[in-house]
Amino acid sequence: MTATEDLIASAEAHSAHNYHPLPVVVATADGAWMTDVEGRRYLDLLAGYSALNFGHGNTRLIEAAKAQLDRVTLTSRAFHHDRFAEFCARLAELCGMETVLPMNTGAEAVETAVKTARKWGYRVKGVPDGRAKIVVAGNNFHGRTTTVISFSTDAEARADFGPYTPGFEIVPYGDPTAMRAAVTENTVAVLLEPIQGEAGVLVPPPGYLAGVRELTRERGVLFIADEIQSGLGRTGRTFACEHEGVVPDMYVLGKALGGGVVPVSAVVSSSEVLGVFKPGEHGSTFGGNPLACAVALEVIAMLRSGEYQRRAAELGEHLHRELGLLAGAGRVTQVRGRGLWAGVDVDPAYGTGREISEKLMDRGVLVKDTHGSTIRIAPPLVISKEDLDWGLAQLRAVLGG
Ligand SMILES: Cc1ncc(COP(=O)(O)O)c(C=O)c1O
Repeated sequence: MTATEDLIASAEAHSAHNYHPLPVVVATADGAWMTDVEGRRYLDLLAGYSALNFGHGNTRLIEAAKAQLDRVTLTSRAFHHDRFAEFCARLAELCGMETVLPMNTGAEAVETAVKTARKWGYRVKGVPDGRAKIVVAGNNFHGRTTTVISFSTDAEARADFGPYTPGFEIVPYGDPTAMRAAVTENTVAVLLEPIQGEAGVLVPPPGYLAGVRELTRERGVLFIADEIQSGLGRTGRTFACEHEGVVPDMYVLGKALGGGVVPVSAVVSSSEVLGVFKPGEHGSTFGGNPLACAVALEVIAMLRSGEYQRRAAELGEHLHRELGLLAGAGRVTQVRGRGLWAGVDVDPAYGTGREISEKLMDRGVLVKDTHGSTIRIAPPLVISKEDLDWGLAQLRAVLGG
């Protein structure tokens, strides 16, 4: 048995099988590269589903974490700590909003958004108790908790996990007529991914997000943008909503906010909306802890420079130009995306997404398939053009005609 086989067998023996990882065992990582336990190097074209926008072992982020580790790591929100105020102020500023509620994982932040919208609906909008509705889109991915999967349309994510939480209305993504019809006087929020990541990097038709903004404003409904995967530089802007000049009422953030170092998520909105919470109504032991705040503050400072957004826009243009040449020419049927983010649909006749991912792994490139035959490409934003081109050459070798 090789070291890889041994470690995989041991993991399978002692862990729940809720994932089906590629057969690679990573030992170290740096920038856009990972090295396995046998010394083989791989280009990371997944970047932890965008949690690693700033690359593995980013010096600024690791230094910020190390410095904070020597000071204080956790207080719980029972006490104040000296990084909290700055974190909230800087994040609110980055979002052009007023108030921050920090959590840890993405799903927790989505849960927080749902609770916020419901309470706002009852206390501010005046929806009758227990009648609040949130409109969501088909093919969404907002996490894995029981409430969040209650409004998933993915059978695999839901089966055997009921009973489900009521209060959600599902409409087709990208369809403004269906959205308009779904909004009633009891609707408190529309919750959308501005680009659907897990669905295969689906970009809505032009004007869709702006239309939802207009509708929600008109009808007194909160527009909640789940930018957990699309936000913080990935698409070439700080937020994917910016591509349509849209400012939602609430951002839900996660993944890259923790710099690939610690889990950090947050809901960011106005003081009127997040002001609905009173002590004891919501919280998290780890949410907004000093280590999380220290790392996230560095992430926010990096984003304020605009450097990463510019990189994602420039390299993204190159990525989509190159992928465009593959589309229709070889085994690729369609390519979508924005910035350094692409969904590549492979003709199923040439194998499943999993099989394509394994072929790429054998060539030293790590990607993740989604929905059968789609490959998702989302390298760290710090990837060099040379490395990206090398990765694209491997893609061409596997998927070219
Ligand atoms: C848009 C979106 N929302 C929420 C989540 C859930 O985040 P987490 O896995 O941190 O709970 C994800 C994760 O992929 C996501 O892409």
